[in-house]
Amino acid sequence: MTIRIGDEAPNFTAETTEGTINFHEYLGDGWGILFSHPADFTPVCTTELGGFANRKAEFDQRDTKLIGVSVDTVESHHGWSKDIEDTQGSALNYPLIGDDERTVANLYDMLHPNELATATVRSVFIIDPAKKVRLTLTYPASVGRNIDEIIRVLDALQLTSKFPVATPVNWTNGSDVIVSPALSDEEATEKFPAGFETHKPYLRTTKQPG
Ligand code: BEZ
Repeated sequence: MTIRIGDEAPNFTAETTEGTINFHEYLGDGWGILFSHPADFTPVCTTELGGFANRKAEFDQRDTKLIGVSVDTVESHHGWSKDIEDTQGSALNYPLIGDDERTVANLYDMLHPNELATATVRSVFIIDPAKKVRLTLTYPASVGRNIDEIIRVLDALQLTSKFPVATPVNWTNGSDVIVSPALSDEEATEKFPAGFETHKPYLRTTKQPG
């Protein structure tokens, strides 16, 4: 099943390293990130899982739950967790789904057989509190993901959900933002009392609100 931005994130119940989890219940009223790993005991995945574990506090601050999926058993994940701790400095501190039957991988279209025969590619889904998919990313097996970029886009999604703004190229938290083209100048003046700059009638920027 192809999952697109704006779709409801399909729900599932799965066995994980933290017990049986109903995905939507696990996410609760906050944000969530579901990300896939091709297989256990593989080098790039080991660095990524440790990377997410090392940065978990930053996701907590953003009211965002992490959950990984790999097409091996929970028992295998527990064994792998020790290697993740040994090599990356943090053991798993968020659930990793045991998806040996590829139920979640199929539900989220994480298997791309022309790239990898039996394992998933590196998918990322950011899901908002209404359970809507807000971002999808797909990386090949050979390229590890960038957690700074995932946090950057999460910040942008949370900001643009709260305020009528968009983020420009290479935006980082705290930089100027674009005033939504849907706002008239009068509405923009009301929403952004500190003012805004008009570069072109369709390109207006303001200080980051909030
Ligand atoms: C890795 O995580 O290193 C990896 C997994 C599957 C294929 C290639 C690399």
